[in-house]
Amino acid sequence: MKILVRAPSNIALMKYMGKKETAGNIPDNPSLSMTLNSLCTYVNMDLQEDSTGQFRIRTGFDDSAKGLDYSRLQIPELKGAGIEKMERHWKRITEAAPSILKEAGLDPRPNGPASVAVQTANTFPMGSGIASSASSFAAMTIAGLVASAADPSKLQELWSSKDSQASVAMKRACARISRQGSGSSCRSFEGPFVEWNEESASVVQTAMPEMSHFVVVVSSTEKKISSSQAHQLVKTSALWNGRVARVTERFHALKVALAVGDIAEVSRLSWTEMWEMHSLFHTATPAFSYWEPGTIHALRSFAEDVLSENPPIVTLDAGPNVHVLVPKSEREHWLDILTERFGAEALLSDGQGTGAEILEVFN
Ligand code: PMV
Repeated sequence: MKILVRAPSNIALMKYMGKKETAGNIPDNPSLSMTLNSLCTYVNMDLQEDSTGQFRIRTGFDDSAKGLDYSRLQIPELKGAGIEKMERHWKRITEAAPSILKEAGLDPRPNGPASVAVQTANTFPMGSGIASSASSFAAMTIAGLVASAADPSKLQELWSSKDSQASVAMKRACARISRQGSGSSCRSFEGPFVEWNEESASVVQTAMPEMSHFVVVVSSTEKKISSSQAHQLVKTSALWNGRVARVTERFHALKVALAVGDIAEVSRLSWTEMWEMHSLFHTATPAFSYWEPGTIHALRSFAEDVLSENPPIVTLDAGPNVHVLVPKSEREHWLDILTERFGAEALLSDGQGTGAEILEVFN
């Protein structure tokens, strides 16, 4: 049996930066992101009928799935530590899967998870500041659930049923497991706006219009400081004092602004939060920075836009590239502006999404 799943990346407006010293990626503060759509990780899985539960990562990406633009896929080069992290995560999800499935009214495979060979591919460059760990862990989590289900087609049906409470509960249970592999991945199971508090992620009700998303790619080189290191180093900054109270207050204000669809306020809060997170980086001991000359050029150009009456939402993740969110109705207008400023080849374009999906189950 072959199975294709995918999970999108997400872009945080309130950032997860700093975590508790306990295991399992418990954040110091609540965060909130927009789930993306086509910037995502695909997992292609060959499922053998035996139940020895072996997990193997295969290089490449077989072009057996329908409707996929293979020319756009980037195959990540997983190295030793990355493979071990995924193997640990596979164990985590396949151990938790039977109870998640039963809770949803589905049967797990009677003798444990199937043996699988998985291939992964991203639609964006590795290390480009687009959270590939979020999408890859979310995709691997859902793959692990499928490998543990007695009837993957039934699971696919329930997963994609939009208004089912059992489906939502199952996605949230998966998000809790995924979080333990990569914190921000827990926000990639639903959409378009998702909050993460302590152990759980859930959708935020908003009055926002449908949003488009651009990335101004100023550099696609691999980042030198991983987000795991950043989570620790920020606490050495003198600005860490009071950070949790400030971001928590801003998080609540952001929820209010999203609830009423106040884009100007969402823009202001997101801009402030981006500066605060990067200030923590720049004032840590040792100080570090993700910025490239192009980042500063882009930030200077957006500094005027965010003060305008109809501002875009602008933010950076732990990377050099600038994310811009605008209403879909203004997409073409902003595409012209961004193309003129940065050149068409520097732009990635996406939109809001609804979270991880089981795309195909075929024998
Ligand atoms: O999930 P991690 O450990 O890769 O951390 C992600 C941190 C940021 O992307 C910088 C912020 C966020 O909330 O996504």
